[in-house]
Amino acid sequence: MRLPVEDLKVGMFVKMPLSWHEHPFLKNAFLVESEREIALIRETGLQEVEVDLTRSRLPSRTPEAAMHPPGGEGQGERGPVVPAELLATIKERGVPAEKRAVRVWENSLVMMKNLLDEPTGPRIKEAKEGIAAVINLILNDEDTTHYLINITEHDFNTYTHCVNVGVLGVALAKAFFGLSSEHDLMALGVGFFLHDLGKVKVDPAIINKPSRLTEEEMREMRRHPAHGYRILLETRQLTEESRLIVLQHHERRDGTGYPRGLRGDEIHIYGRLCSLVDVYDALTADRPYKSKLDPFSALKLMREEMIGHFQRDLFERFVLMFRAP
Ligand SMILES: [Fe+2]
Ligand SMILES: [Fe+2]
Repeated sequence: MRLPVEDLKVGMFVKMPLSWHEHPFLKNAFLVESEREIALIRETGLQEVEVDLTRSRLPSRTPEAAMHPPGGEGQGERGPVVPAELLATIKERGVPAEKRAVRVWENSLVMMKNLLDEPTGPRIKEAKEGIAAVINLILNDEDTTHYLINITEHDFNTYTHCVNVGVLGVALAKAFFGLSSEHDLMALGVGFFLHDLGKVKVDPAIINKPSRLTEEEMREMRRHPAHGYRILLETRQLTEESRLIVLQHHERRDGTGYPRGLRGDEIHIYGRLCSLVDVYDALTADRPYKSKLDPFSALKLMREEMIGHFQRDLFERFVLMFRAP
């Protein structure tokens, strides 16, 4: 049935009458899980959407409870942050690596989406367990990781980007530092997955703008590293080194980055690592206003036009990851 957007409720299964590029969601048809998602649907300018009640999960309510829809204050009626299927897929034996990679990637997207819809301390803590399972897989299953780092068919949105930067970041850290180094790959991996957490504090209209940002919008967007750092500090999540990933992932080796314009070794090695994979994923993703580059062209562009932004030996090690196994 068709419903006016004002009448949408959390728990309804909606079908967007728009193409992927015209809305900020992962899929065209999905279960609405938060008031924020309803606000995002409203922002597309749609008046009505198709609702499939057979696939909706509306809680049965007393008339009293119906007066106070979930969201806003209180506990709400959220499900777990980490989809059970993510952990099951990682544990399951005998699944071909390619299939496992796709399932892990898709379920990781759902996890990031669940988290970014409401990044409270307890939910970040919950997500860390799911992320740890994915990191474990990357550190121990080379075949699946090979397919994971080569998933390049994706639009650019915060969820796909966070998962890709997480996967690529952990794989590069493993290749660069080695497994038996003093670096805690688990702790820094969580930092990669959460590096853009601060985008939840930026106006969704800016995050989802289908064209280039104005100067002022850019200024607002550039606050996301500090926002993310603050959320993690206030919720007392992650180690300080991992929080630096969030704060410094847009700094560049030649001092042209933000928020502080740090140079060279002033940027923590984990921040340098994250900035490299962050740029690579941005270049290889489709955006409404620019088409994506294939991995080879992206690496070539980074080498020829951006090499001053990156630590050279880190970049060389990154390039090697894309050779056939
Ligand atoms: Fe970022
Ligand atoms: Fe990013």
